Amino acid sequence: MSETVILAIETSCDETSAAVVVNGRKILSNIISSQIDIHKKFGGVVPEIASRKHVELVLPVINQALEEATVKLEQVDAIGVTYGPGLVGALLVGLSAAKGIAFAAGKPLVGVHHIEGHIAANYLENETLEPPFVCLVASGGHSHVVHVSDYNIFEIMGQTRDDAAGEAFDKIARALGLGYPGGPLIDIEAVKGNSKAVDFPRVHFNDGSLDFSFSGLKTAVLNYLNGMSQKGLEINLPDVCASFQQAVVDVLVSNTLKAARQKGVARVALAGGVAANSQLRSAMKMAAEKAGMEMYYPKPILCTDNAAMIGAAAYYEFKRGNVSGLDLNAKPGLRLGDKNCG
Ligand code: KG4
Ligand code: ZN
Repeated sequence: MSETVILAIETSCDETSAAVVVNGRKILSNIISSQIDIHKKFGGVVPEIASRKHVELVLPVINQALEEATVKLEQVDAIGVTYGPGLVGALLVGLSAAKGIAFAAGKPLVGVHHIEGHIAANYLENETLEPPFVCLVASGGHSHVVHVSDYNIFEIMGQTRDDAAGEAFDKIARALGLGYPGGPLIDIEAVKGNSKAVDFPRVHFNDGSLDFSFSGLKTAVLNYLNGMSQKGLEINLPDVCASFQQAVVDVLVSNTLKAARQKGVARVALAGGVAANSQLRSAMKMAAEKAGMEMYYPKPILCTDNAAMIGAAAYYEFKRGNVSGLDLNAKPGLRLGDKNCG
């Protein structure tokens, strides 16, 4: 089989990343320069600072990715790049770099949807995984249950009606004084706690919708914290974290399995930053086993934003002939499943 080498670039939020990926499955390099330490002191990502940092880092990171892969630009078959959704200023930096390289080196440009990239992270570690499957994509900006019927065909079966799952983690962590980003910090505390200590709500819609809603849960946690403080009582931090986390995980797992049953697929996958959550991974594994389904998830570093996942998705777009023009623009609100070339 001939090899297709993709140089991929991802700058949609606060990681500047470049990777070299072969045939959508094999990572030769995956350089991730995180800005988390810079944004931490503001309690979240500051878009203008993110763009400026991307400008500083994007070319060194791309060079490092090529060097580490020992691949020369001439050996690259296509340049894959995230063009949405994300922060517009941040997206534009990666996109401009990708267009410049594609033009100068005479290589095709492949625009990739960020969420499609998160889903494709699963191909990097699970050689046997092929569509169809149902994927839960849970990140700081998105909570989607997606039916992946083919490499390029996505149907959103459920999505959040308010906060994304990662956003809920981040907001609750802030209220608990844990810092940013909240997901990993709550995950660590929760391991020491009792997930049944506080009964927080799980929202399911009566109309059979597989949508999520986390704002009620967020309010319930905030009310609980206020109530305790008004009574002059200390909270048990690990118990609150474990109980909150369990409430999020329960709805994520149950809607994903319902979606898989509806589509008659026997494979479920996890993607996005929240997919790094230890309780989500173990609960989904148990539920999938019970339902006789196979379960897939990328290792934590491939769950959060990285360019290797963009390289995997770009490969399947490229193979299908989905090459973008050099007039490709950043689309901060791009929806999954929208045509992404041209
Ligand atoms: O996919 P990602 O890196 O960026 C977006 O595209 O949004 O996801 C970041 C989100 C943050 O909200 C972060 O708190 C959450 O993923 N996250 C986690 C964990 N690790 C990252 N949430 C729960 N548990 C974790 N271990
Ligand atoms: Zn992401």
